[in-house]
Amino acid sequence: MATTEVSITPEAVEASKKAEITPDPCIVVIFGASGDLTKRKLLPALYHLEQGGLLPQKFAVVGVARRPLGSTFAEDMREGIVNFGGVKTDDPKLEEFIAKVQYHAMNFDDANGYSALKTLLASLDTKYGTNGNRLFYLATAPDYFADIIQHLGATGMAKPANAGDAKTWVRTIIEKPFGHDLASARVLNDDVNQVFDEDQIFRIDHYLGKETVQNILIFRFANGIFEPVWNRNYIDHVQITAAESIGIEGRGPFYESAGALRDVMQNHVMELLSFVAMEPPISFEASAVRAEKIKVWRAIQPIPASDTVRGQYGPGTVDGKDAIGYRQEDRVSPESQTETFAALRLEIENWRWAGVPFYIRAGKRLAKRETEITIQFKQPPLLLFKDHAGPCGEQIEPNTISMRIQPDEGIALRFGAKVPGPSMNICPVNMDFSYAVAFGPSSNNGYERLLLDAMLGDATLFAHRDGVEATWALMTPILEAWKSTPIQNLPNYAAGTWGPESSNELLARDGRTWRKS
Ligand SMILES: NC(=O)c1ccc[n+]([C@@H]2O[C@H](COP(=O)([O-])OP(=O)(O)OC[C@H]3O[C@@H](n4cnc5c(N)ncnc54)[C@H](OP(=O)(O)O)[C@@H]3O)[C@@H](O)[C@H]2O)c1
Repeated sequence: MATTEVSITPEAVEASKKAEITPDPCIVVIFGASGDLTKRKLLPALYHLEQGGLLPQKFAVVGVARRPLGSTFAEDMREGIVNFGGVKTDDPKLEEFIAKVQYHAMNFDDANGYSALKTLLASLDTKYGTNGNRLFYLATAPDYFADIIQHLGATGMAKPANAGDAKTWVRTIIEKPFGHDLASARVLNDDVNQVFDEDQIFRIDHYLGKETVQNILIFRFANGIFEPVWNRNYIDHVQITAAESIGIEGRGPFYESAGALRDVMQNHVMELLSFVAMEPPISFEASAVRAEKIKVWRAIQPIPASDTVRGQYGPGTVDGKDAIGYRQEDRVSPESQTETFAALRLEIENWRWAGVPFYIRAGKRLAKRETEITIQFKQPPLLLFKDHAGPCGEQIEPNTISMRIQPDEGIALRFGAKVPGPSMNICPVNMDFSYAVAFGPSSNNGYERLLLDAMLGDATLFAHRDGVEATWALMTPILEAWKSTPIQNLPNYAAGTWGPESSNELLARDGRTWRKS
């Protein structure tokens, strides 16, 4: 396998980071701050920004949750930064950063708690010079989103305190899942929009913080050689796989009400698909990029139940270890119909893509952890070398471009090459770009970029309400069809495999197969 030569010095990478703008002084207020997400991802990401010199000097973090944690909260966050952020305990900026981390205990339904929070934030403005700028991060279960937003509105925290100062801002980041079907997403959007204007709202999907996802747009639109072939004339079909080898990790009640379609397809996979399929936006402004994404989702034809596959894992072997089946997981119904695997075939009815099927699949307890997009090109019309597949297979493989989103981030172009020797035999080879090789390893978790963008007011990588509703409009009829027709043969795949046989049949119908990695 050949590796692409890329000469990027660490200095050049550093210079590129510094070229970004530093946000205004502000306070980041995290609701649900004693939870997993804050400790594992959010605080490490904020600290990575601090390390990179990308946070404002005048800055504070306030964690909000129910338990009376007091100063142990900041200590816990220090531990999270070290353990999950790859930061050394004696990192030079760590003490100073932790000193800016505070905790506020309250119940999310307690109006007095919000008044006390307002007073606390005002006092921190005086102490740190944060000037009334606020980023409210809703890292809570979705049931609380609307209530918290309503309380922020009622206490006057949703609008800048000094409204006359056009530079003062208040924004909110809202975690996923945003709704559980089209109707609930609309209700939540209405609730949120009653308090916050759309340009204050940052609906997050952490996949979009990944460099590899953003790089899809660079790959397509900053290079001259790919875009001319990025269409129905040259592309046979597209595959997107979002596979996890882990199970539900003790989150039975959550997963029972979610399933693969809600948990991954409606958000992560639809986002990836829009980046692959969108037209070039006129700029990288939020409105231009979001408009193109929405056009893709709206051009997807309703997906018939016959083009959908659902699965649920039974006992099996994952990474050499025995794994229990989904129905044996803690707090999961022994008769559960929840899908831990979903696969869909869809078509985008526009000039670029008409007739090109997109096959997408997502699941848990699959053979390996891998998120990948594969563009498979059409075979040349005249298979001059059709009898020369040689030692590598019975047929000459079509060209593919594979974008590895995680792990082992990179892009590979697969093409045929002559096997050395007197005969004209052909084997497929890869030209492989690896992020880690080209740019060095990174301890970033994706939230860095998104937190920074929200502080800067750049919503390009966040979802608009129209986008959320467009993807739910596609998924909701499938959810309804599945609900009305329970399937009898669950579980239908063993943990550690690539899902049910019906997933292979979905492609076999069209004479295609899932790409093997
Ligand atoms: N974990 C991840 O990696 C991840 C990834 C992507 C998205 N998300 C999303 O992020 C959100 C949070 O996830 P998480 O894993 O951090 O959740 P979690 O570990 O369950 O944490 C929930 C938090 O909410 C607080 N809380 C619950 N009820 C409360 C109440 N009535 N009043 C005040 N505080 C209350 C808890 O405080 P106490 O501890 O004090 O009760 C805790 O801080 C979810 O929407 C999830 O879907 C998480």
